[in-house]
Amino acid sequence: MKHFLSVNDVEDIDALVNKALQFKMNPLVSQQIGAGKRIGLVFLNPSMRTRLSTQIAAENLGMKAIVLNVNQDGWMLEFEEGAIMEGSSVEHIKDAAPILGTYFDILGVRTFPGLKDKEADYSEFYLQQFIKYAGIPILSLESATLHPLQSLADIVTIEELFREKRKPKVVLTWAPHVKALPQCVANSFAQWINAWGKADFVISHPAGYELDEQFTKGANIEYNQDTALKDADFIYVKNWSAYQEYGKILSEDKNWMLTRSKLATTKQAKVMHCLPVRRNVELSDEVLDSACSIVTQQAGNRVWAAQTVLAELLKAK
Ligand code: CP
Repeated sequence: MKHFLSVNDVEDIDALVNKALQFKMNPLVSQQIGAGKRIGLVFLNPSMRTRLSTQIAAENLGMKAIVLNVNQDGWMLEFEEGAIMEGSSVEHIKDAAPILGTYFDILGVRTFPGLKDKEADYSEFYLQQFIKYAGIPILSLESATLHPLQSLADIVTIEELFREKRKPKVVLTWAPHVKALPQCVANSFAQWINAWGKADFVISHPAGYELDEQFTKGANIEYNQDTALKDADFIYVKNWSAYQEYGKILSEDKNWMLTRSKLATTKQAKVMHCLPVRRNVELSDEVLDSACSIVTQQAGNRVWAAQTVLAELLKAK
């Protein structure tokens, strides 16, 4: 594995999932593989789970992790080729990234989309600049369009909880939100579940919220949430802004918030969310505070997903 940017960097999803579950059983089993190595974690946007789980994962592998919160602690970065830097940006990515490449063995980068320019966001412009100039393996800590570490943890969580011989029915359902959010968690979950191929996968959302088909192709799209939820084993709740009318909020329909009564037709579905979650906007207290919710276990599995990916990146170096 040269970089970890999407499921396309993964040869065998099941092998990664099994490795993550092994690390969960025995976190310190591979303490030697990261000895003397360093990972830089560069955050252009906020984070709690990704930052801490990746730091813990690195530590479990004997690796040192150093965090740089660019907007608080670093010089403001310029990304435009040929920019005349008379404004607020102080350092060009062409100068900063090669230096990070000399300090670290792996570089983790978090960079959210602007949600204004679809073409720029979907070209992963910022992440690509780090890849181009750092010269070391890049680990996506959530990019403009994808969140692969989250998706791996999501599949690990489904795998460890589903014990039946049949395929689980997994429903990704849109939820209301007060802000326009990126599509990356939904894109990435769809991409991973489709590539995994071990679930009956349904995506449910109001009309207008169709995601990019490059990620969803293979999933059933169901505009009626009640129909989608019937017989579900896992329900992944997530808001995203529109992809076609890029970055727009098209619906504020509170009926899309998942409540306990909506779980009645499911197969005692477990409820997932990547977090952070806006309570009683995206997901009701009654669901989040019930035994149906597996959001804490899901977030806990971020450590094992990150540890597995770091081990793969170290192995390839
Ligand atoms: N789910 C997730 O990526 O959480 P953070 O934004 O806190 O890292």
